Amino acid sequence: MNIKDEIKALKEQKNAVILAHYYVADEIQEIADYVGDSFALSKTAATLPNPIIVYCGVSFMGESGCLLSPEKKVLMPDASADCPMAHMVTKADCPMAHMADRETIERMRETYEDLAVVCYINSTAEIKSWSDVSVTSANAVQIVRNLPNQNILFIPDQNLGRFIAAQVPEKNIILVNGYCPIHQNISPAEVQELKDAHPNAEVLVHPECPEAVTRLADYIGSTTGIIKHATESEKQEFIIGTEIGVLYELKKRNPDKTFYFPKTAPTCRDMKLITLEKVLHVLQTEENQASVDRAQAEAAGNTLTRMLELSK
Ligand code: 13P
Ligand code: SF4
Repeated sequence: MNIKDEIKALKEQKNAVILAHYYVADEIQEIADYVGDSFALSKTAATLPNPIIVYCGVSFMGESGCLLSPEKKVLMPDASADCPMAHMVTKADCPMAHMADRETIERMRETYEDLAVVCYINSTAEIKSWSDVSVTSANAVQIVRNLPNQNILFIPDQNLGRFIAAQVPEKNIILVNGYCPIHQNISPAEVQELKDAHPNAEVLVHPECPEAVTRLADYIGSTTGIIKHATESEKQEFIIGTEIGVLYELKKRNPDKTFYFPKTAPTCRDMKLITLEKVLHVLQTEENQASVDRAQAEAAGNTLTRMLELSK
């Protein structure tokens, strides 16, 4: 039996389900039961009946799976796959930031009576437990716009925060200095080079990109948003400003369209740690079970259930 058949057989035997983010390697997306962006995966994790979820993604995704489905076993194929941005709230990580450690957040709550602390889902359970609501790039604008609060502290992604602030100018959005190193590293010069070479191409980028890149874009949206836009567009060529893993779904849905990525291909090293061998290993051993500190679980889980309610 080849490894893909072994995974399938074991998955069926254990009534397990495999979730994968669009940024994992193609062969993982191929064997997954559900592939999606952070929002779609968290919605799916909350409703699946299976007792075991193999979560092909980084640790905040596994934690979210546990928070939304505490009765399930959430297995991480590589326990070290982590999102560097998810931890970016301390002085050490963001030396120039208005910091967003717990103390600062509490001080800010005193300064702004109606402050809502909104955290990107790409954050640890601890950071979620300090916050009022989580968002993903797919629902952040809608949720922030509809919150009754006028003052919003958005942590930890400054780029997504800036994008939200531009869409919701009527609110005071306070930012910190966190960022995704992969999207932050997308070079505006390389995107401009592609635009010059392919003047008919539409430019679709993720809101985690720096401002100099989003300024060059025709469309800014989540991973699912980019895939949907490219699929529905009449254009034939696209310049894509997000992690290279989305190419698998883009080509699957649009075999006749052409996609260009910056020559320094945006590649999330942590997402690429997931391999077929590791998926098989956790299915066999049930090792690497994701977990959340009990002291944080209730408050952190509330931010996710609130997100799901507010994005209905
Ligand atoms: P989305 O899945 O919301 O597009 O976010 C991208 C990302 O960086 C996930 O780690
Ligand atoms: Fe984190 Fe960026 Fe990797 Fe997503 S692509 S997991 S935000 S480092």
